[in-house]
Amino acid sequence: MFNFCIFASGAGSNFIEIYRFSKKNSNKMKINLLVSDKVDCGAVKYAKKNEIDYIIVNVNLFPNAKDQETRIIESLKFHKINYIVLAGYIKKVPIKVINDFKNKILNIHPSLLPKFGGKGFYGMNVHNAVIQSKESKTGVTIHFVNKDYDKGPIIYQEEIPVYANDNAEKLSKRVLRLEHKTYKKIISYLINDKIIWNGNKPEIRKIYND
Ligand code: GRF
Repeated sequence: MFNFCIFASGAGSNFIEIYRFSKKNSNKMKINLLVSDKVDCGAVKYAKKNEIDYIIVNVNLFPNAKDQETRIIESLKFHKINYIVLAGYIKKVPIKVINDFKNKILNIHPSLLPKFGGKGFYGMNVHNAVIQSKESKTGVTIHFVNKDYDKGPIIYQEEIPVYANDNAEKLSKRVLRLEHKTYKKIISYLINDKIIWNGNKPEIRKIYND
């Protein structure tokens, strides 16, 4: 049984999908906590409605970065969290959390990293850049988080085509649907011990047909 914490700042569609998935797999996983920096975002509203514990950590509530880190660390401990899933979290994860949860933090990025990753590449910026660069394909990347933004070990990538009549808006919707599908798939691998390490590289153990 694994206890999960989700970090989210936005609409929370990935959070909601993962939460529903956790309910169907309640013998293997539970979402014990949501961490957000936005008091009123979709993710927090959903947590309130569904009685999921959440904490808000931002500069208004905790002007000192160290206090933000402490608040998060203490909550993770209190809820006995095993894995953290970043789902549209726009703040940096405090370094102590990254160190304490080495290879236990997942992130999803809406492009085929290393393309369109790193500083400034979040939200619609990513899809705008893909369109402007006339890429023929884009997709999602799911990776473990380390201290280098968008550069942690990649677990899984999946491509979709960029069509001639695509714009960033249309593309973002298709990529988001792909995010929902692939994030659940990888979390399912995680809770079923199908992600193994080959040196520094995570690999998906293919023993079952799925
Ligand atoms: C997703 O595209 C995610 O990859 C990105 O932010 C978006 C979050 O969407 N980092 P939601 O809040 O899960 O609906």
